[in-house]
Amino acid sequence: MLDKSKYFLNKNENKITLEETKNLQEIILYHDNLYYNKENPIISDFEYDILLKKLNFLEEKYDLEKISSNIWADLVESTFEKVPHSKPMLSLDNTYNAEDLTDFDKKIKNILKRDINLSYNVEYKFDGLWIELIYEKWNFIQAITRGNWLQWEDVTENVRQIENIPKKIDYKNRLEVRGEVVMLKSIFKKVNEERLKNSEALFSNPRNAASWSLRQKNINITRDRKLFFFAYDVPNFEEEEASYRDLITHLENTGFSVSPFFEYGENIEKITEIILDIQEKKSDLNLDFEIDGLVLKLDNISLWREIWFTGHHPRYATSYKFPAELLTTKILSIEESVWRTGTITPVANLESVNIGWVIVKRATLHNYDEVKNKDIKIGDNVFIRRAWEVIPEVVSVITEGRTWEEKEILPPEKCPICDTKVKKDEDKVRYYCDNPKCPAKTMQNLAYQIGKTGLNIDWFGPAIVEKFLEEKLITDLPSIFNLKDKKEEILALEWFQEKSVNNLLEAIENAKNIGVNTFITTLWISWVWKVTAREVAKLFKVADDIINFNYNIEDLLELNDVWPEIAKNIVNFFHNPDNEEFLEKLISKLNIEFPDKNNNNNAKLLDKKFCVTWSFDNYKRDELVKIIEENGWEFFSSVSWKLDYLLAWEKAGSKIQKAEKLWVEILSLEEFFDLIK
Ligand code: IVH
Repeated sequence: MLDKSKYFLNKNENKITLEETKNLQEIILYHDNLYYNKENPIISDFEYDILLKKLNFLEEKYDLEKISSNIWADLVESTFEKVPHSKPMLSLDNTYNAEDLTDFDKKIKNILKRDINLSYNVEYKFDGLWIELIYEKWNFIQAITRGNWLQWEDVTENVRQIENIPKKIDYKNRLEVRGEVVMLKSIFKKVNEERLKNSEALFSNPRNAASWSLRQKNINITRDRKLFFFAYDVPNFEEEEASYRDLITHLENTGFSVSPFFEYGENIEKITEIILDIQEKKSDLNLDFEIDGLVLKLDNISLWREIWFTGHHPRYATSYKFPAELLTTKILSIEESVWRTGTITPVANLESVNIGWVIVKRATLHNYDEVKNKDIKIGDNVFIRRAWEVIPEVVSVITEGRTWEEKEILPPEKCPICDTKVKKDEDKVRYYCDNPKCPAKTMQNLAYQIGKTGLNIDWFGPAIVEKFLEEKLITDLPSIFNLKDKKEEILALEWFQEKSVNNLLEAIENAKNIGVNTFITTLWISWVWKVTAREVAKLFKVADDIINFNYNIEDLLELNDVWPEIAKNIVNFFHNPDNEEFLEKLISKLNIEFPDKNNNNNAKLLDKKFCVTWSFDNYKRDELVKIIEENGWEFFSSVSWKLDYLLAWEKAGSKIQKAEKLWVEILSLEEFFDLIK
């Protein structure tokens, strides 16, 4: 089924025949069963959504009866009592891009046949399972979950175990409350650890684990899992002239937990802005539950009653899903990669998956402990997570369809590059090569020193560094400045043409003029990154001060950002005889610039490029952008190596992480105002 699903994922819907469409219907049913009954999906939600959209299109094209309207009747294999229901169980329509939100707004106006301003609320879309709670005469009396199309499952006794669901409320009449049950990520992790110990199959995500835990006959299981409930709907909310904001406030006042993120926007433009903003800071949210997007709901509930539903979806609400993160593919082989520090990590070569314009062929497995814990083998189908700013990673394995010919992934005994016997950290999970001359380390080190994080030489990427090392055109950093005498040899490599060699050589010449801060950063002393390097650089007035390094640990501790471990690293670095020679050689090639202390500060800021994270306590991002632009500097909306500074609120995560990786200097608000004073 996995192969067939992949086939349909990749096939243009216009080329799918009637016969094939029937096949696709079966495939969707198959995945529904895995998702709703078995709690063990083998494709990602994103892939499922694509298949379902294709199917919807094809069912219309071939005038087939929609399967999605009667499927669940045959599917659910449940031992729970069934509760007939009168109201339809609908799902939200979904979109993956911001333009669709404008269309959503337009559609509503079309149906209303008037061009009025519509305001909305946006909240989390929880990735859990839907339930309905029923209260009568102040008491919780019943809970039902989606069973199948015709009848629901009674899970009252299980739901009674969920602590944050009120069992008594201050309301006499019948009240129906709908919402989502989720399993906290922290609990999920423990549950899987436990299952691994007992050799039970692992849950691939918290949603499946929650669904399974809620639907156990043994209610102790449900209680132990500490499930959590978020309320978001009261189908018979009968206030006149009510808004969705009122509804949520009522729920909160009655004792329910609601979405911790809840924003009101007076029109669709404002709401789109909020949505894009939260998407950007998603990785900073650090939520202990999974969300797979946001839900957008029309604020005015009396309008809900005017527009109601399409066949399957409410018209007053839609979901905005975050760009696909989870995908499925197969591990073809494992490669060991040796990092600058000698750490060896497993990297999976994947059957390539193509999402939009991005092709993913490799994903990291982090370390060998993780491989063992997640029970991942070569030949396995796996879920991988692709996020924008980090390397794709293998998340979990799909054991269904295993042939038992999958091969175990074992830590290497020897360094894959230099054959040195691999060491393992005592209590850590790190395997590493401790040969200081390991070519992999030399290569990585040099790539860092030449790259954006060091001299920042255009045209001189890691692949070229590797090639030049292999051809013995370079051996270390100082040697790159001799390349100008080796033009013929470079041309002979067939990687270059006259023009590209000239570009490269020119870039190398330009790199000779270097500020002392960048110079110190380029040395790559452990823990001495951009900010600390700037501090260390303050010690030097001329190049000879660097060669005749004459400071001890106490001197260094006087500097900001330098603590004992770092001070020791610095002293060791400059007093290592190998490095003394290296420094002398390197400095003789360079023209290091030292700041003229009399110089006015702002001249230094000429042409500087800033980015600002999303929010500060006392300043709006826009205000800061204005200050930056009024000073004639450039503002960038995203973090890239071009930046000089990232102005960050201390907790802002993903941008900070990225800036750190790219060695962009991170400024606090005080530092920023200090700098521009
Ligand atoms: S409102 C008519 N709000 O997403 C359905 N649903 O595809 C109105 N969900 O079945 C649902 N978070 O299980 C709503 N904040 C939220 C939600 C949410 C998650 C789920 C729910 C629903 C599915 C819709």
